[in-house]
Amino acid sequence: MAKKLKVAVVGAGGIFRGAHLPGWMKLPECEMWAVCDVSPQAIQACVDDLRNNYGVEIPKERQYTDYKKMFRDVAAGKLELDIVDICTPNSYHKDPTVKAFEVGCHVIVEKPMATSAREAEAMIEAGKKAKKLLMIAQSMRFTPEGLLMKRIADSGALGKIYWGEAVILRPRGVPAWGLFIDRKASAGGPIYDLAVHVLDLTFHCMGFPNPVAVSAGAYLEISDKPSVMTHDPKKYTVPEDFAAALIRLEGGITVTLETSWALNIPGYRGNVTICGNKGGLTMEPLTLVREEFGALTNTTIQVNPFAGVASHHEEIRQFVDAIVNGKPSPVPGEQALKTQKVLDAIYKSGELGREVRIS
Ligand SMILES: NC(=O)c1ccc[n+]([C@@H]2O[C@H](COP(=O)([O-])OP(=O)(O)OC[C@H]3O[C@@H](n4cnc5c(N)ncnc54)[C@H](O)[C@@H]3O)[C@@H](O)[C@H]2O)c1
Repeated sequence: MAKKLKVAVVGAGGIFRGAHLPGWMKLPECEMWAVCDVSPQAIQACVDDLRNNYGVEIPKERQYTDYKKMFRDVAAGKLELDIVDICTPNSYHKDPTVKAFEVGCHVIVEKPMATSAREAEAMIEAGKKAKKLLMIAQSMRFTPEGLLMKRIADSGALGKIYWGEAVILRPRGVPAWGLFIDRKASAGGPIYDLAVHVLDLTFHCMGFPNPVAVSAGAYLEISDKPSVMTHDPKKYTVPEDFAAALIRLEGGITVTLETSWALNIPGYRGNVTICGNKGGLTMEPLTLVREEFGALTNTTIQVNPFAGVASHHEEIRQFVDAIVNGKPSPVPGEQALKTQKVLDAIYKSGELGREVRIS
Protein backbone atom coordinates (compact mmCIF):
# COMPACT_ATOMS: atom_id res chain seq x y z
CA MET A 1 0.00 0.00 0.00
CA ALA A 2 1.17 3.53 -0.76
CA LYS A 3 2.56 5.61 2.09
CA LYS A 4 -0.18 7.24 4.13
CA LEU A 5 -0.71 10.99 3.91
CA LYS A 6 0.19 12.65 7.20
CA VAL A 7 -2.40 15.10 8.48
CA ALA A 8 -2.03 17.90 11.04
CA VAL A 9 -4.83 19.97 12.52
CA VAL A 10 -4.45 23.63 13.45
CA GLY A 11 -7.34 24.51 15.78
CA ALA A 12 -8.50 21.27 17.42
CA GLY A 13 -11.81 22.67 18.72
CA GLY A 14 -15.49 21.96 18.15
CA ILE A 15 -15.71 21.53 14.39
CA PHE A 16 -12.48 19.54 14.15
CA ARG A 17 -13.25 17.06 16.89
CA GLY A 18 -16.97 16.87 16.19
CA ALA A 19 -16.96 16.66 12.39
CA HIS A 20 -13.54 16.63 10.68
CA LEU A 21 -11.74 14.08 12.86
CA PRO A 22 -14.30 11.28 12.30
CA GLY A 23 -14.01 12.08 8.59
CA TRP A 24 -10.23 11.75 8.55
CA MET A 25 -10.41 8.52 10.55
CA LYS A 26 -12.58 6.94 7.85
CA LEU A 27 -9.91 7.35 5.20
CA PRO A 28 -7.35 4.57 4.89
CA GLU A 29 -5.11 6.85 2.77
CA CYS A 30 -4.51 9.22 5.71
CA GLU A 31 -3.24 9.23 9.27
CA MET A 32 -3.56 11.89 11.95
CA TRP A 33 0.01 12.85 12.64
CA ALA A 34 0.21 16.17 14.53
CA VAL A 35 -2.10 18.35 16.62
CA CYS A 36 -1.75 22.11 17.02
CA ASP A 37 -3.87 24.45 19.11
CA VAL A 38 -3.06 27.51 21.22
CA SER A 39 -4.97 25.85 24.05
CA PRO A 40 -3.16 22.97 25.82
CA GLN A 41 -6.59 21.79 27.04
CA ALA A 42 -7.86 21.54 23.44
CA ILE A 43 -4.72 19.58 22.47
CA GLN A 44 -5.22 17.23 25.41
CA ALA A 45 -8.90 16.67 24.56
CA CYS A 46 -8.00 15.91 20.94
CA VAL A 47 -5.11 13.60 21.82
CA ASP A 48 -7.35 11.76 24.31
CA ASP A 49 -10.07 11.47 21.67
CA LEU A 50 -7.60 9.98 19.20
CA ARG A 51 -6.24 7.53 21.75
CA ASN A 52 -9.54 6.47 23.33
CA ASN A 53 -11.75 6.36 20.23
CA TYR A 54 -9.32 5.43 17.47
CA GLY A 55 -6.29 3.91 19.17
CA VAL A 56 -4.01 6.58 17.66
CA GLU A 57 -1.17 7.96 19.78
CA ILE A 58 0.13 11.49 19.14
CA PRO A 59 3.39 11.77 21.10
CA LYS A 60 4.35 15.02 22.86
CA GLU A 61 6.85 15.97 20.15
CA ARG A 62 4.00 16.09 17.64
CA GLN A 63 1.77 18.30 19.81
CA TYR A 64 2.19 22.04 19.19
CA THR A 65 0.83 25.20 20.80
CA ASP A 66 2.30 27.33 17.99
CA TYR A 67 1.71 26.56 14.30
CA LYS A 68 4.81 28.57 13.31
CA LYS A 69 6.96 26.18 15.38
CA MET A 70 5.17 23.22 13.77
CA PHE A 71 5.89 24.52 10.26
CA ARG A 72 9.50 25.36 11.23
CA ASP A 73 9.88 21.71 12.24
CA VAL A 74 8.51 20.65 8.84
CA ALA A 75 10.94 23.00 7.06
CA ALA A 76 13.81 21.61 9.15
CA GLY A 77 12.88 18.01 8.29
CA LYS A 78 11.96 17.20 11.91
CA LEU A 79 8.28 16.64 11.14
CA GLU A 80 6.73 15.07 8.07
CA LEU A 81 3.37 16.47 6.93
CA ASP A 82 1.31 16.27 3.74
CA ILE A 83 -2.00 17.90 4.67
CA VAL A 84 -2.98 20.64 7.10
CA ASP A 85 -6.59 21.00 8.25
CA ILE A 86 -7.18 24.54 9.52
CA CYS A 87 -10.11 24.88 11.94
CA THR A 88 -9.15 28.03 13.80
CA PRO A 89 -11.47 31.04 14.27
CA ASN A 90 -11.96 33.09 11.08
CA SER A 91 -9.22 35.69 11.67
CA TYR A 92 -6.61 32.93 11.94
CA HIS A 93 -7.31 31.17 8.63
CA LYS A 94 -4.94 33.08 6.37
CA ASP A 95 -1.59 32.91 8.21
CA PRO A 96 -1.46 29.17 8.90
CA THR A 97 -2.72 28.50 5.36
CA VAL A 98 0.10 30.52 3.80
CA LYS A 99 2.69 28.99 6.13
CA ALA A 100 1.44 25.45 5.41
CA PHE A 101 1.83 26.07 1.68
CA GLU A 102 5.34 27.49 2.22
CA VAL A 103 6.42 24.13 3.64
CA GLY A 104 4.74 22.18 0.83
CA CYS A 105 1.48 20.94 2.38
CA HIS A 106 -2.02 20.72 0.92
CA VAL A 107 -4.57 22.78 2.87
CA ILE A 108 -8.23 22.38 3.76
CA VAL A 109 -9.50 25.41 5.67
CA GLU A 110 -12.84 26.07 7.36
CA LYS A 111 -15.36 28.63 6.16
CA PRO A 112 -15.42 31.57 5.81
CA MET A 113 -12.21 31.34 3.76
CA ALA A 114 -10.88 34.55 5.31
CA THR A 115 -11.95 37.90 6.70
CA SER A 116 -11.19 39.95 3.57
CA ALA A 117 -10.73 39.41 -0.14
CA ARG A 118 -7.10 40.51 0.22
CA GLU A 119 -6.43 37.65 2.68
CA ALA A 120 -8.23 35.20 0.39
CA GLU A 121 -6.06 36.32 -2.56
CA ALA A 122 -2.88 35.79 -0.51
CA MET A 123 -4.04 32.25 0.32
CA ILE A 124 -4.74 31.44 -3.34
CA GLU A 125 -1.39 32.89 -4.41
CA ALA A 126 0.51 30.83 -1.80
CA GLY A 127 -1.24 27.65 -2.97
CA LYS A 128 -0.39 28.33 -6.60
CA LYS A 129 3.26 29.05 -5.75
CA ALA A 130 3.48 25.80 -3.77
CA LYS A 131 1.54 23.88 -6.47
CA LYS A 132 -0.58 22.36 -3.69
CA LEU A 133 -4.35 22.03 -3.33
CA LEU A 134 -6.45 24.54 -1.41
CA MET A 135 -9.98 23.55 -0.44
CA ILE A 136 -12.45 25.63 1.51
CA ALA A 137 -14.66 23.48 3.76
CA GLN A 138 -18.04 24.62 2.44
CA SER A 139 -19.85 21.70 3.99
CA MET A 140 -23.39 22.52 2.78
CA ARG A 141 -22.37 21.52 -0.76
CA PHE A 142 -21.62 18.04 0.52
CA THR A 143 -24.95 17.38 2.23
CA PRO A 144 -27.11 14.85 0.33
CA GLU A 145 -29.45 17.73 -0.62
CA GLY A 146 -26.57 20.00 -1.70
CA LEU A 147 -25.04 17.26 -3.87
CA LEU A 148 -28.42 16.58 -5.53
CA MET A 149 -29.17 20.28 -6.06
CA LYS A 150 -25.91 20.73 -7.97
CA ARG A 151 -26.63 17.64 -10.06
CA ILE A 152 -30.13 18.87 -10.94
CA ALA A 153 -28.97 22.45 -11.66
CA ASP A 154 -26.16 21.13 -13.91
CA SER A 155 -28.60 18.91 -15.83
CA GLY A 156 -30.23 21.99 -17.36
CA ALA A 157 -33.62 21.11 -15.81
CA LEU A 158 -33.98 24.68 -14.54
CA GLY A 159 -33.33 26.34 -17.91
CA LYS A 160 -31.83 29.83 -17.74
CA ILE A 161 -31.23 30.56 -14.05
CA TYR A 162 -32.00 34.16 -13.11
CA TRP A 163 -32.80 34.30 -9.38
CA GLY A 164 -31.73 32.65 -6.15
CA GLU A 165 -32.76 33.04 -2.55
CA ALA A 166 -30.39 32.19 0.30
CA VAL A 167 -31.99 32.23 3.73
CA ILE A 168 -30.60 31.22 7.10
CA LEU A 169 -32.42 32.94 9.95
CA ARG A 170 -32.11 31.96 13.59
CA PRO A 171 -34.64 33.70 15.85
CA ARG A 172 -32.30 33.22 18.82
CA GLY A 173 -29.05 31.41 18.12
CA VAL A 174 -25.96 33.42 18.95
CA PRO A 175 -23.11 30.92 19.36
CA ALA A 176 -22.12 31.00 23.02
CA TRP A 177 -19.02 28.81 22.69
CA GLY A 178 -15.58 29.62 21.33
CA LEU A 179 -14.85 33.07 19.94
CA PHE A 180 -17.71 33.48 17.44
CA ILE A 181 -18.91 36.78 18.99
CA ASP A 182 -15.41 38.22 19.40
CA ARG A 183 -14.60 40.70 16.66
CA LYS A 184 -10.82 40.21 16.80
CA ALA A 185 -11.07 36.42 16.37
CA SER A 186 -14.11 36.13 14.11
CA ALA A 187 -14.39 39.55 12.42
CA GLY A 188 -18.09 39.08 11.68
CA GLY A 189 -21.33 37.57 12.99
CA PRO A 190 -23.96 35.66 10.98
CA ILE A 191 -22.68 37.08 7.67
CA TYR A 192 -19.39 35.20 8.09
CA ASP A 193 -20.81 32.31 10.08
CA LEU A 194 -24.07 31.45 8.29
CA ALA A 195 -24.59 33.47 5.11
CA VAL A 196 -21.37 32.02 3.70
CA HIS A 197 -22.97 28.54 3.70
CA VAL A 198 -26.17 29.38 1.82
CA LEU A 199 -24.44 31.78 -0.56
CA ASP A 200 -21.80 29.21 -1.45
CA LEU A 201 -24.46 26.62 -2.30
CA THR A 202 -26.52 29.15 -4.27
CA PHE A 203 -23.54 30.38 -6.31
CA HIS A 204 -22.29 26.78 -6.76
CA CYS A 205 -25.64 25.70 -8.26
CA MET A 206 -25.50 28.74 -10.55
CA GLY A 207 -21.97 27.91 -11.75
CA PHE A 208 -20.33 30.72 -9.77
CA PRO A 209 -21.05 33.79 -11.92
CA ASN A 210 -18.93 36.83 -11.00
CA PRO A 211 -20.53 39.11 -8.40
CA VAL A 212 -21.16 42.64 -9.67
CA ALA A 213 -22.84 44.66 -6.89
CA VAL A 214 -24.46 44.40 -3.48
CA SER A 215 -27.09 46.49 -1.72
CA ALA A 216 -27.44 45.44 1.90
CA GLY A 217 -28.50 46.33 5.39
CA ALA A 218 -26.48 44.95 8.32
CA TYR A 219 -27.91 45.47 11.79
CA LEU A 220 -26.92 45.04 15.42
CA GLU A 221 -30.19 45.37 17.26
CA ILE A 222 -31.02 42.58 19.69
CA SER A 223 -27.94 40.55 20.59
CA ASP A 224 -27.78 42.50 23.87
CA LYS A 225 -31.21 41.19 24.93
CA PRO A 226 -30.44 37.56 25.63
CA SER A 227 -33.89 36.44 26.81
CA VAL A 228 -33.20 32.86 25.73
CA MET A 229 -29.61 33.25 24.58
CA THR A 230 -26.68 31.98 26.61
CA HIS A 231 -23.82 34.22 25.43
CA ASP A 232 -22.46 37.08 27.51
CA PRO A 233 -23.76 40.21 25.73
CA LYS A 234 -20.78 42.26 27.00
CA LYS A 235 -18.50 40.04 24.90
CA TYR A 236 -20.55 40.59 21.73
CA THR A 237 -18.20 42.74 19.64
CA VAL A 238 -18.91 41.51 16.09
CA PRO A 239 -20.71 44.15 14.02
CA GLU A 240 -24.08 42.52 13.21
CA ASP A 241 -26.78 40.11 14.34
CA PHE A 242 -28.90 40.33 11.15
CA ALA A 243 -28.33 41.21 7.50
CA ALA A 244 -30.39 41.31 4.31
CA ALA A 245 -28.96 41.85 0.84
CA LEU A 246 -29.70 42.01 -2.85
CA ILE A 247 -26.71 40.64 -4.76
CA ARG A 248 -26.26 41.26 -8.47
CA LEU A 249 -24.27 38.69 -10.46
CA GLU A 250 -22.95 38.68 -14.00
CA GLY A 251 -25.58 37.84 -16.63
CA GLY A 252 -28.33 39.83 -14.89
CA ILE A 253 -28.80 37.19 -12.15
CA THR A 254 -29.94 38.37 -8.71
CA VAL A 255 -29.71 36.64 -5.35
CA THR A 256 -31.50 37.72 -2.21
CA LEU A 257 -29.99 36.89 1.17
CA GLU A 258 -31.31 36.97 4.71
CA THR A 259 -29.25 35.85 7.69
CA SER A 260 -29.42 36.20 11.47
CA TRP A 261 -28.20 34.95 14.80
CA ALA A 262 -31.03 36.84 16.50
CA LEU A 263 -34.23 38.19 14.96
CA ASN A 264 -37.82 38.60 16.12
CA ILE A 265 -39.36 35.88 13.98
CA PRO A 266 -41.42 32.93 15.24
CA GLY A 267 -38.96 30.16 14.37
CA TYR A 268 -35.89 29.07 12.40
CA ARG A 269 -36.05 29.59 8.65
CA GLY A 270 -33.46 28.19 6.30
CA ASN A 271 -33.56 27.41 2.59
CA VAL A 272 -31.81 27.75 -0.72
CA THR A 273 -34.00 28.36 -3.77
CA ILE A 274 -32.79 28.53 -7.37
CA CYS A 275 -35.15 29.66 -10.12
CA GLY A 276 -34.80 29.38 -13.87
CA ASN A 277 -37.18 29.80 -16.80
CA LYS A 278 -37.83 26.04 -17.04
CA GLY A 279 -37.91 25.11 -13.38
CA GLY A 280 -37.22 25.96 -9.76
CA LEU A 281 -35.46 24.08 -7.01
CA THR A 282 -35.71 24.35 -3.23
CA MET A 283 -33.53 22.63 -0.68
CA GLU A 284 -35.98 22.30 2.25
CA PRO A 285 -37.74 20.10 1.28
CA LEU A 286 -35.77 19.15 -1.81
CA THR A 287 -38.31 19.94 -4.54
CA LEU A 288 -38.14 20.50 -8.28
CA VAL A 289 -40.93 22.75 -9.58
CA ARG A 290 -41.76 22.57 -13.30
CA GLU A 291 -44.64 22.96 -15.71
CA GLU A 292 -45.58 19.45 -16.75
CA PHE A 293 -48.77 18.14 -18.35
CA GLY A 294 -49.95 21.75 -18.53
CA ALA A 295 -49.73 22.16 -14.77
CA LEU A 296 -47.24 23.45 -12.26
CA THR A 297 -45.81 20.27 -10.76
CA ASN A 298 -43.83 19.85 -7.55
CA THR A 299 -41.55 16.85 -7.56
CA THR A 300 -40.32 16.01 -4.08
CA ILE A 301 -36.93 14.37 -4.33
CA GLN A 302 -36.27 11.75 -1.71
CA VAL A 303 -32.91 11.79 -0.03
CA ASN A 304 -31.89 8.28 0.88
CA PRO A 305 -31.75 8.26 4.69
CA PHE A 306 -29.52 5.19 4.55
CA ALA A 307 -26.94 6.70 2.21
CA GLY A 308 -24.92 7.74 5.26
CA VAL A 309 -23.43 10.82 3.64
CA ALA A 310 -22.17 13.09 6.42
CA SER A 311 -21.27 16.38 4.77
CA HIS A 312 -17.93 16.96 6.52
CA HIS A 313 -16.82 13.40 5.87
CA GLU A 314 -17.77 13.72 2.21
CA GLU A 315 -15.88 17.02 1.82
CA ILE A 316 -12.74 15.48 3.34
CA ARG A 317 -13.13 12.35 1.23
CA GLN A 318 -13.39 14.42 -1.95
CA PHE A 319 -10.38 16.54 -0.91
CA VAL A 320 -8.19 13.47 -0.41
CA ASP A 321 -9.50 11.92 -3.64
CA ALA A 322 -8.44 15.12 -5.46
CA ILE A 323 -4.95 14.99 -3.91
CA VAL A 324 -4.42 11.29 -4.60
CA ASN A 325 -5.84 11.34 -8.12
CA GLY A 326 -4.59 14.74 -9.29
CA LYS A 327 -8.07 16.27 -9.58
CA PRO A 328 -8.91 19.96 -9.07
CA SER A 329 -9.90 21.18 -5.61
CA PRO A 330 -13.56 20.33 -4.86
CA VAL A 331 -13.97 23.88 -3.48
CA PRO A 332 -11.24 26.05 -4.99
CA GLY A 333 -10.11 29.28 -3.37
CA GLU A 334 -11.10 31.20 -6.51
CA GLN A 335 -14.77 30.37 -5.88
CA ALA A 336 -14.62 31.21 -2.18
CA LEU A 337 -12.90 34.49 -3.11
CA LYS A 338 -16.02 35.50 -5.08
CA THR A 339 -18.17 34.75 -2.04
CA GLN A 340 -15.70 36.62 0.18
CA LYS A 341 -16.05 39.69 -2.05
CA VAL A 342 -19.83 39.51 -1.63
CA LEU A 343 -19.54 39.15 2.18
CA ASP A 344 -17.16 42.14 2.34
CA ALA A 345 -19.56 44.15 0.15
CA ILE A 346 -22.51 43.31 2.44
CA TYR A 347 -20.66 44.92 5.37
CA LYS A 348 -19.57 47.89 3.26
CA SER A 349 -23.02 48.47 1.77
CA GLY A 350 -24.58 48.21 5.25
CA GLU A 351 -22.15 50.83 6.55
CA LEU A 352 -22.58 53.20 3.62
CA GLY A 353 -26.32 52.68 3.20
CA ARG A 354 -26.05 52.31 -0.56
CA GLU A 355 -25.21 49.80 -3.29
CA VAL A 356 -21.50 48.97 -3.65
CA ARG A 357 -19.85 47.67 -6.82
CA ILE A 358 -17.57 44.63 -6.79
CA SER A 359 -14.53 44.52 -9.07
N1 LIG B 1 -18.70 24.08 8.38
C1 LIG B 1 -19.39 24.18 9.50
O1 LIG B 1 -20.50 23.69 9.59
C2 LIG B 1 -18.74 24.85 10.69
C3 LIG B 1 -19.31 24.68 11.95
C4 LIG B 1 -18.66 25.29 13.04
C5 LIG B 1 -17.52 26.05 12.85
N2 LIG B 1 -17.01 26.22 11.59
C6 LIG B 1 -15.82 27.07 11.37
O2 LIG B 1 -14.70 26.44 11.98
C7 LIG B 1 -13.84 27.39 12.60
C8 LIG B 1 -13.66 27.01 14.07
O3 LIG B 1 -14.91 26.94 14.72
P1 LIG B 1 -15.17 26.00 16.00
O4 LIG B 1 -16.63 25.93 16.21
O5 LIG B 1 -14.40 24.74 15.88
O6 LIG B 1 -14.51 26.90 17.13
P2 LIG B 1 -13.85 26.43 18.49
O7 LIG B 1 -13.68 27.66 19.30
O8 LIG B 1 -14.61 25.29 19.06
O9 LIG B 1 -12.41 25.86 18.04
C9 LIG B 1 -11.40 26.68 17.54
C10 LIG B 1 -10.07 26.19 18.11
O10 LIG B 1 -9.02 26.97 17.52
C11 LIG B 1 -8.06 27.22 18.54
N3 LIG B 1 -7.26 28.38 18.14
C12 LIG B 1 -7.58 29.70 18.20
N4 LIG B 1 -6.58 30.45 17.68
C13 LIG B 1 -5.62 29.60 17.28
C14 LIG B 1 -4.34 29.75 16.68
N5 LIG B 1 -3.87 30.96 16.35
N6 LIG B 1 -3.60 28.64 16.42
C15 LIG B 1 -4.06 27.41 16.74
N7 LIG B 1 -5.26 27.20 17.33
C16 LIG B 1 -6.03 28.27 17.58
C17 LIG B 1 -8.89 27.42 19.80
O11 LIG B 1 -8.12 27.26 20.98
C18 LIG B 1 -9.97 26.35 19.63
O12 LIG B 1 -9.58 25.12 20.22
C19 LIG B 1 -14.50 28.76 12.36
O13 LIG B 1 -13.90 29.40 11.28
C20 LIG B 1 -15.96 28.44 12.04
O14 LIG B 1 -16.56 29.35 11.16
C21 LIG B 1 -17.60 25.61 10.53
